[in-house]
Amino acid sequence: MMASKLLLLNLVVPALSEIAHGVFIPSTDSFLLPSPFQGDETVPTNGSTNFINTVTANASTNALLDSAINDTYYAFDEEFYDILGTKTPNIQLIETRKDLFAYEAGAWDYDKNQVWFSSCVISHPTYISILDLNTNDITTLDIPALYNINPNGGYYFNGTMYFTTVGNESVPNGVYAINTETYKATPIINSFYGEKYQSVDDLTWVKQGSESCVDTGPNLFFSTLDVRLFGVYGAAPLMLQDWVYRYSPKTRTVQGAISRSDIVSPNGVRRDATGRYLYVTGLAAPFAPTGSQGNQFNSSVVYRFTLDEDCVPIEKRLVAMVPSYADGLHIDDFGRIWTGEWEGITVRSPSGKVLGVFNREALVTGVGLPPMANFSITGDKLVILALDRVFVLQLGQNVTSAKAGTQ
Ligand SMILES: *[C@@H]1O[C@H](CO)[C@@H](O)[C@H](O)[C@H]1NC(C)=O
Ligand SMILES: *[C@@H]1O[C@H](CO)[C@@H](O)[C@H](O)[C@H]1NC(C)=O
Ligand SMILES: *[C@@H]1O[C@H](CO)[C@@H](O)[C@H](O)[C@H]1NC(C)=O
Ligand SMILES: *[C@@H]1O[C@H](CO)[C@@H](O)[C@H](O)[C@H]1NC(C)=O
Ligand SMILES: *[C@@H]1O[C@H](CO)[C@@H](O)[C@H](O)[C@H]1NC(C)=O
Ligand SMILES: *[C@@H]1O[C@H](CO)[C@@H](O)[C@H](O)[C@H]1NC(C)=O
Ligand SMILES: *[C@@H]1O[C@H](CO)[C@@H](O)[C@H](O)[C@H]1NC(C)=O
Ligand SMILES: *[C@@H]1O[C@H](CO)[C@@H](O)[C@H](O)[C@H]1NC(C)=O
Repeated sequence: MMASKLLLLNLVVPALSEIAHGVFIPSTDSFLLPSPFQGDETVPTNGSTNFINTVTANASTNALLDSAINDTYYAFDEEFYDILGTKTPNIQLIETRKDLFAYEAGAWDYDKNQVWFSSCVISHPTYISILDLNTNDITTLDIPALYNINPNGGYYFNGTMYFTTVGNESVPNGVYAINTETYKATPIINSFYGEKYQSVDDLTWVKQGSESCVDTGPNLFFSTLDVRLFGVYGAAPLMLQDWVYRYSPKTRTVQGAISRSDIVSPNGVRRDATGRYLYVTGLAAPFAPTGSQGNQFNSSVVYRFTLDEDCVPIEKRLVAMVPSYADGLHIDDFGRIWTGEWEGITVRSPSGKVLGVFNREALVTGVGLPPMANFSITGDKLVILALDRVFVLQLGQNVTSAKAGTQ
């Protein structure tokens, strides 16, 4: 009895992992199809499609696209297999819950090897959970300072976790610093000259570099996005517009960094591993309908800016026109751009070619759920925040490193 009990205690339970499958779609199919064809117009963005639901005049093309629907990924370029290391990577379902607990952030504390993430803002109030990659345990935090004010995007920097809050009607939203030992949250930014920010969506710290942000010390960029557009409550009165701001602890200032006339609705903000570039996703707002108005005013895009010596974003460069919309993003140590999009997690080359997609149709199975917003790339693992589920997919390449701190 005793012996078998001990044996049970010592038993290493094998990880419940499964094999992920995928298909290869020629990238020429993205711009030349057997005609006539019909794109998928079921998504609420209108005018945007989920490519694999396209129906064409050619049965073998249709069979290929169809076969992708239940697959974990589809590749458009051989380089995607370099990332995966194999065509059949392991994917592990870590946890399923009844609520949408896994949606935003996905901030890697590489010192503890933990991923912090927040629940879905559509079913507010949001809260933060931590996936410990050493044990695969998920712990939900109880942080009184963040009750009802909807923590959203997160970023780990210099031993501290930072979260944005979307806010609510009565509490000014902004940026909080969270101690990773005590989980005490302290506001560090909540106003711009007495005005309340729109919902603060995302943030990224940029270190001082040799060409960029020279002598400025580290700078924090954060985006504000009026989430009331998406039927989410909260957010301050509409005094300030949706902007990207820059906070400099050294000069003790918050300044506008990217104006609304450059990006109507900034969402994800991210630096690359070198700190030379700042990437921003722009949302067609609000989920711009088709027609001249949508086309004229709003774009669903990923832009890259160069950071100059004063840490000012210059040289706006379009790196991707996103057919649906892009939310959280990460730049890996190879300069590849990973974005949470309607279709799933899309990986692009530094120049913008889609290399492959981790397929939302297979990863998010609940009917009517919002798309995946974010994820985390932690060395050679992809942590997928699939709303009511969290997966970890094993990559064949260390795409990020603690040293580069790109998370
Ligand atoms: C566009 O979206 C609206 C609202 O979701 C829907 O009623 C309409 O049918 C859509 N139009 C197309 C062309 O898909
Ligand atoms: C359909 O597409 C396949 C693959 O491109 C091609 O080999 C085949 O000839 C096409 N069939 C027809 C009927 O056009
Ligand atoms: C995908 O999976 C669903 C549910 O298991 C199934 O009904 C459907 O036939 C599958 N589609 C394809 C193309 O294999
Ligand atoms: C806003 O936050 C405050 C402070 O947590 C809370 O008292 C209030 O109930 C919240 N409002 C809503 C609508 O949740
Ligand atoms: C996406 O995840 C990163 C963490 O890896 C985080 O810094 C960022 O805030 C998230 N973006 C959004 C829009 O939540
Ligand atoms: C990092 O944090 C330490 C305190 O833990 C502080 O002394 C140091 O100035 C910080 N460095 C940067 C670059 O913010
Ligand atoms: C696009 O953005 C403009 C400027 O904010 C806004 O007035 C307009 O309603 C948006 N257009 C659509 C079609 O959503
Ligand atoms: C990633 O780096 C870690 C630490 O150096 C190493 O243990 C692991 O094998 C690497 N993974 C791959 C896929 O190379």
